[in-house]
Amino acid sequence: MTADSRAELRDAAFAAMENAYAPYSRFRVGAALLASSGEIVAGCNVENAAYGEALCAERVAVAAAVAQGLTSFEEIAIASESDEPSPPCGSCRQTMSEFAPDLLVTSYARNGKEASWKLSELLPEAFALNHLRGRI
Ligand code: THU
Repeated sequence: MTADSRAELRDAAFAAMENAYAPYSRFRVGAALLASSGEIVAGCNVENAAYGEALCAERVAVAAAVAQGLTSFEEIAIASESDEPSPPCGSCRQTMSEFAPDLLVTSYARNGKEASWKLSELLPEAFALNHLRGRI
């Protein structure tokens, strides 16, 4: 991936963060998923007065991409208002792993700090279809 396209993915994550609906936590998150087709699909966190119904930015992005027929992904950029790059929560790791166990995950703090991980290091031994079917 070129520096330009990584910057484009980062910018898409920060743009999505602007649309976050986070009046309860006041922690806005944006995510931009790069599909293998080259398309970028964004998501943001969407909270609710029933707190437990909050949707994370990463899972919103995955759901939006799948709804567009995209199920193969290369990288996700996450943008948050944190001072340190914020890693994805456990539920989002599991959801992303379904489609892209080797996904590159890059998280950006508002001050430009960034951190990258392979999803397989964030979620080793992920539960997957082969376990469900009893074939490991
Ligand atoms: N959040 C995300 O959007 N992604 C994560 O990986 C961690 C948490 C959101 C959920 C909630 O709206 C807010 O951040 C505070 O937890």
